[in-house]
Amino acid sequence: MTLILGIESSCDETAAALVTSERRILAQHIASQEEAHAPFGGVVPEIAARAHAEKLAPLIEATLADSGVTLADVDAIAATAGPGLIGGVMVGLVSAKALAMASGKPLIAVNHLEGHALSPRLADESLQFPYGLLLVSGGHCQILRVDGVGQYRRLATTIDDALGEAFDKTAKILGLGYPGGPKVEQLALEGDPKAVKLPRPLLGSAEPHFSFAGLKSAVLRAHQSGQYEAADIAASFQQAAVDCLIDRLRIALRQMSEITALVVAGGVAANSVIRAALEQLADEYGLPFTAPPMALCTDNGAMIAWAGVERFEAGYSDPLDISARPRWPL
Ligand code: KG4
Ligand code: ZN
Repeated sequence: MTLILGIESSCDETAAALVTSERRILAQHIASQEEAHAPFGGVVPEIAARAHAEKLAPLIEATLADSGVTLADVDAIAATAGPGLIGGVMVGLVSAKALAMASGKPLIAVNHLEGHALSPRLADESLQFPYGLLLVSGGHCQILRVDGVGQYRRLATTIDDALGEAFDKTAKILGLGYPGGPKVEQLALEGDPKAVKLPRPLLGSAEPHFSFAGLKSAVLRAHQSGQYEAADIAASFQQAAVDCLIDRLRIALRQMSEITALVVAGGVAANSVIRAALEQLADEYGLPFTAPPMALCTDNGAMIAWAGVERFEAGYSDPLDISARPRWPL
């Protein structure tokens, strides 16, 4: 059995977890910085880095204490090494290096996107490679074929905003606060998804790429017109997003052969309307649909520890002089 300590600090969540190769999360802690960033309507990198620096050490200690294991029992220490806000990534990676050095255990530098991409396998033992993955978070919107650990074929990305970003901006326009995704989803429950005519950028185009900037601008114009209820704008925005995802995925599914399942991961995968639409799409294509439980969708330490388990078992580890990377495509 492999036991990995995972550390995540690439955005506004400071997180640590201990996960085994038998898919047991022995302990985990997450400190959210939501309140610190809320007055600014988005994540402020300086505030984030300082908060990670303050919270991470006690959080790792608490995770070890709760699990009843010590650093000596751990096989390796995994940390997000990018992509993300560089100050925060450095805090997590430097801490992991220090722990690796002090304990003599290997360091595993995890790509945050790989953390999201493999997280469904932590929750679902039966999920086999290759699978089709929609990765939708605050910073990314991609369709990938996951062929194995470290083996990804990217079929689509966004040419402008990520979908989570579009949710966050819509929330800001509607005055719902930060983080926006869950608030837009909640307000949309009271609205009519057909009330506001909004664009579906790139719908019907030949390659499965995404674009959400035009949708966000249309939300702003609809709001400024004063003609619509905020709930109707939220519901119409969410429906436009769903329509784009499904249309783009249909193109991508044509380009992905022999996949075992359709999988969604990343913060936006916590959205139940999106999950339901994807489940229906998978059903139509005769594919099983997998989505990690909500708590594993948004940033967390367990997904980094799990990517560490998968990488460790595949024979990967990293030198202690590895650098944090603000940009790091899968
Ligand atoms: O994966 P994540 O925690 O961080 C990044 O790596 O970006 O994703 C955060 C994003 C935010 O944009 C947030 O608004 C969005 O995920 N999100 C949601 C929901 N919950 C979180 N978007 C739509 N509906 C949700 N329920
Ligand atoms: Zn993330």
